[in-house]
Amino acid sequence: MSKDEHKDEVQEEEIPETDEAPEEISQQEQQREYFKARYTEITDLPGVGSATAVSLAEAGYRTTPSLATATIRELTEKGIGEDTAKKVIAEARKAISLGFISAQDLIKIRSNRKLLTTGCANFDQLLNGGLETESITEFYGENGSGKTQICHQLCVTVQLPEEKGGLNGNALYLDTEGTFHPERILQMAETFGLEPGPTLENIVYAEAFTSEHQIALLEAADDMIQEHKIRLIIVDSAIAQFRSEYSGREFLATRQQKLNAHLNKLLRLCRAFNAAGVITNQVVDRPDSYGQNFPSPTGGHIVGHTVHTRVFIRKGRANLRIAKLTKSPSLPEGETPFRITETGILHEENL
Ligand code: GTP
Ligand code: MG
Repeated sequence: MSKDEHKDEVQEEEIPETDEAPEEISQQEQQREYFKARYTEITDLPGVGSATAVSLAEAGYRTTPSLATATIRELTEKGIGEDTAKKVIAEARKAISLGFISAQDLIKIRSNRKLLTTGCANFDQLLNGGLETESITEFYGENGSGKTQICHQLCVTVQLPEEKGGLNGNALYLDTEGTFHPERILQMAETFGLEPGPTLENIVYAEAFTSEHQIALLEAADDMIQEHKIRLIIVDSAIAQFRSEYSGREFLATRQQKLNAHLNKLLRLCRAFNAAGVITNQVVDRPDSYGQNFPSPTGGHIVGHTVHTRVFIRKGRANLRIAKLTKSPSLPEGETPFRITETGILHEENL
């Protein structure tokens, strides 16, 4: 079992109070600080000369955190020699201390994870406070259920200060269906008391026209994420392009392989930059063991294994919607109603 899977199994725990004075930094932390200070740019890493830096940049690795979460194969496939790939990945991992750590350290690292408010009290309650950073949350449901609306609202709430449930950061919106509406952001910014102009300015947007384009945009996103202080990465919708381009059983294996790599890239970016990952997904009807059809997210086990939290959005009457938590590493299943209104995604009682 990989270290990451272990991570997911560790329950959230209270961080124990320590008697240590803040200035008494442990040896490991000192070492971490040392590497961080030494290798801020990838060209500072031993073995990365300017020619390698150019090749790495072309391969989509321009920052130490993204390089630290890369695999040797990914780099060799992009034309980087195996020895160089091994060396630079190892150095980048040392730089951000990716390796064996104690469970005590793991608690400290996990305490860096933050929660992003949905801006809707009962929705947050369902998620035990909001969307977790360094993991992927999936919203799935039929057409018009409100997945894109939720994504819009998150682009606004991520900009709120931490004391208001935001991450004091910016959003990256990868749009594969051309349904992002900046005008909607303006309405929502007003609801949350944010200045309209800067709120739009803080959302980096890209439309992906094909699955290859979608993959390429995310592959090239790391320095932009760092530079623009991105704390929320949205792919709306994540699977649709893959499904339409690779339809037919003979393409299934290729599709799943590409999708797996893409979602893994998203997860690694979220981990590297302490960002919340969000994908939306469509549904297909699948029979359960009693032969009854029920809506199930597309993309198969690959998606099911990569996303940590799955939320099914169901339509109710008029603008009423029901959010149902169907998968979480630490929370029980549950559901809650909300409404889509002019001002945004709202708690029932807000109306
Ligand atoms: P697909 O992407 O087609 O799968 O659907 P989706 O789940 O992304 O749906 P989306 O988030 O686009 O939700 C559309 C719903 O939001 C529709 O029912 C719209 O009526 C509603 N909606 C969108 N904008 C507004 C608005 O400004 N005011 C109100 N009241 N409702 C809105
Ligand atoms: Mg949509």
